[in-house]
Amino acid sequence: MPIIAPSILTADFLHLADACKIINESEADWFHLDVMDGRFVPNISFGMHIIKQLRKQGRKFFDVHLMILEPEKFTEEFRDAGADGLTVHLEACPHLHRNIQLIKSLGMKAGVAINPHSPVLLLKDVIRDIDLVNVMTVNPGFGGQSFIPYSIQKIKDLRQLITETGSSAKIEIDGGVSLDNAKEILQAGADVLVTGTAVFSSDDPAGMISKLKNL
Ligand code: DX5
Ligand code: ZN
Repeated sequence: MPIIAPSILTADFLHLADACKIINESEADWFHLDVMDGRFVPNISFGMHIIKQLRKQGRKFFDVHLMILEPEKFTEEFRDAGADGLTVHLEACPHLHRNIQLIKSLGMKAGVAINPHSPVLLLKDVIRDIDLVNVMTVNPGFGGQSFIPYSIQKIKDLRQLITETGSSAKIEIDGGVSLDNAKEILQAGADVLVTGTAVFSSDDPAGMISKLKNL
């Protein structure tokens, strides 16, 4: 069964406790928390303060996706705010290997995200060091965009790389995931589905989570 990681990015920020409750009480496995700095991506979302608040009630794995430059400056703060896993962008890290080691030394799972234009082969040398690859299937920065079709081939390529290298990294798919494409994404080799709009724009978020979980 896939790991379902709802993103609160498109939830109602006046009622974040409700979003938290939905995730806690549903079949979702993780909270996916999208942090944006207005520099690496053309949008600003939220930071460690909100994560710390959510941590008071959130009872599942906190999967924090940093869409920020110089993530090493804040790695410890995100750990202290409650991150269980921290994902940094390949494109934002000239010293990616060092960042991965830092995340792990602070006791978190280490993830690397790649933008749609970045080939999975760029991960070849670090793939055994990481716990998660976030394959961005839209351009990062906004919820509610359409899944980029060529991503299916990228997922297959990444699955092959992971198998060949004996890596235990999970493949997480982020952007434009819905009931329409989730099956194909899983068949291509994905382990984790991030879902923002599909869940929080639905009349029945818990029902949608259950459908995705039990495809
Ligand atoms: C986009 C974020 C995603 C986003 C997914 O930059 O990384 O996690 O919230 O939202 P949907 O499911 O609406 O594409
Ligand atoms: Zn994300």
